[in-house]
Amino acid sequence: MEQSRRNLLKSFTALAGASLLPSEVQSQIKAGSSVLKKGDPIDLSEFINLYDFEKSAESKMTKMAFEYVASGAADEFTVKWNRQALDTIKLNPTVLTDVTKLDTKVSLFGHQLSHPILVAPTAFHKIMHPDGELATARGASAASTIYVVSSFTTTRIEEISKVATHPLWFQLYVRDDRAFTKDVVQKAEAQGCKAICVTVDTPVGGARNRQQRVKFKLPDNVNAPYMVSLGPQKNPLTWKDIEWLQTCTKIPLLVKGILNPDDAEKAIQSGVSGIIVSNHSGRNLDTVPATIEALPRIAAKVNKRVPLLMDGGIRRGTDVLKAIALGANAVLVGKPICFGLACGGAAGVEKVLSILQYEFELAMALTGKSSIASIDSSVIWKQ
Ligand code: FNR
Repeated sequence: MEQSRRNLLKSFTALAGASLLPSEVQSQIKAGSSVLKKGDPIDLSEFINLYDFEKSAESKMTKMAFEYVASGAADEFTVKWNRQALDTIKLNPTVLTDVTKLDTKVSLFGHQLSHPILVAPTAFHKIMHPDGELATARGASAASTIYVVSSFTTTRIEEISKVATHPLWFQLYVRDDRAFTKDVVQKAEAQGCKAICVTVDTPVGGARNRQQRVKFKLPDNVNAPYMVSLGPQKNPLTWKDIEWLQTCTKIPLLVKGILNPDDAEKAIQSGVSGIIVSNHSGRNLDTVPATIEALPRIAAKVNKRVPLLMDGGIRRGTDVLKAIALGANAVLVGKPICFGLACGGAAGVEKVLSILQYEFELAMALTGKSSIASIDSSVIWKQ
């Protein structure tokens, strides 16, 4: 059994006793291939939950890199609310149902994932770890999941796709130079990316005060090849561009950054293949609501016409369960991946994902839900 999952299993058995662990859960914890090789100096056994990575990352990253990852916009109300809203949702378990076999699989655009948890696009991985996006891709693949590569990647897609054994998606920031944008999309597709996520919540950057305070800038030896010479953007991104983008590629196009049900409807009318409910981890417009709060009304509007994903504050397996119960098909995780990368490279990324997958299995078993399809709003406690 490989290292990181063995540690997870050990910590669970220490807590609850092996006999309580459903056999299917055990086999899923054992499954997968580790990126932590024998002799690697990284000891991740002390990392029990996702918060441990953030605590430890602070001492492993430069102040500038840590502030870049950890900060939100302005007074960081939305950052806090993403967590608070998830924390205050209570669960309503059902007992005496058979949870010996858990089906955690989910299918997205024809690809089957072992768990409904993806790696969100985040920028500049080389400031978090020297192996940068290659480590993220290895870690995500070891955890059998999709990695959405940011437009601000510090490694070219062709290099990332060489090491990824599970699908990559590409996150797109549309540039004024639409020919350049089209070229980037087509390169991503040619390099095997299986979907494009166009981010629509960033017509301008947020008031990122903590980044301003540390005078954030990239180190001289790090660059973002798809976002070179980024001057002020003059051509606004509009729904017409969403229609145009779909003519540039054959792979599915998702819009990332929807908080408003009317925008979700417009996205569907524009022909998109999927929607990501996101507030950019509270990094853009402060005081917008938590994504888990926005999700139910968007889910009602979308009504299963296209896959609906959500990110923002997902840190626990119970958070994943709550998002699915309120209408998401899958979730993405951002900051914890950056902190996992900083703490342990590929193995750190894998461990973040394994912990979340494992906690999600526990949340399912303990609420009496044996399959994703059976997770509905009845699992949410109503006053
Ligand atoms: C981001 N996010 C982001 N989104 C995007 O579309 N393109 C990008 O380049 C980035 N870059 C980025 C950097 C860092 C350091 C963070 C923390 C976030 C937003 C990201 O995709 C996602 O929406 C959130 O990170 C999800 O919330 P959590 O899991 O970080 O709380």
